Amino acid sequence: MDRQVRIVCLASGSGTNFQALLDADLTPGQIIGLVSDNPNAKALKRAQDANVPTRVVPMGEFATRDAWNEGLIETVEELNPDLVVLAGFMRILAPAFVSRFITINIHPALLPSFPGAHGARDALAYGVKITGCTVHLVDAGVDTGPIIEQAAVPVLSDDTPSTLQARIQQEEHRLYPTVIKDWCNGAYAITTDSGRSRVIRLI
Ligand code: GAR
Repeated sequence: MDRQVRIVCLASGSGTNFQALLDADLTPGQIIGLVSDNPNAKALKRAQDANVPTRVVPMGEFATRDAWNEGLIETVEELNPDLVVLAGFMRILAPAFVSRFITINIHPALLPSFPGAHGARDALAYGVKITGCTVHLVDAGVDTGPIIEQAAVPVLSDDTPSTLQARIQQEEHRLYPTVIKDWCNGAYAITTDSGRSRVIRLI
């Protein structure tokens, strides 16, 4: 493959999914930047250790959410990505962001069940016996974009939110790099069927 796919990751926290992406061979994908909204995100240190350029766009430095969104778009635009990959980025992106950049997210539940900030905790509280993780395209809604791949994780009778989250994360760390590499290799296409966008696997 002669063309590199430039990936910018966005992370707010610990960044274990970001680390899994850094550790993987994503060819022809290459992570060319990490952007965080949180100056204390451990993901920033992971990027620095891997010599990946970082940018921080804290919401508190902007007068309004709209201004922050514009600042975020400008910062990401400067890095000129082909693909934006969310790795625990806990802010809702503006419609202008998701229409400007192809953006992929990982979520710790089997969407469309349990969207939002607490996918593992909410699945446990509901009492489902199987949950998992979902890699999906980001659209203007919250965790509503077309699903790319999912992996199932059983809920055990003695699970707590943190043991379940940890087991889901093991699957996330396996699934996410695989899907991102395949995406960069053109393995997926977006189709529209009865007005709804879907992702299909081509190869
Ligand atoms: C991951 O489990 C990811 O699925 C979740 O945040 C965690 C970040 O962990 N994302 C969401 O809940 C998005 N709605 P990490 O910082 O260790 O990768």
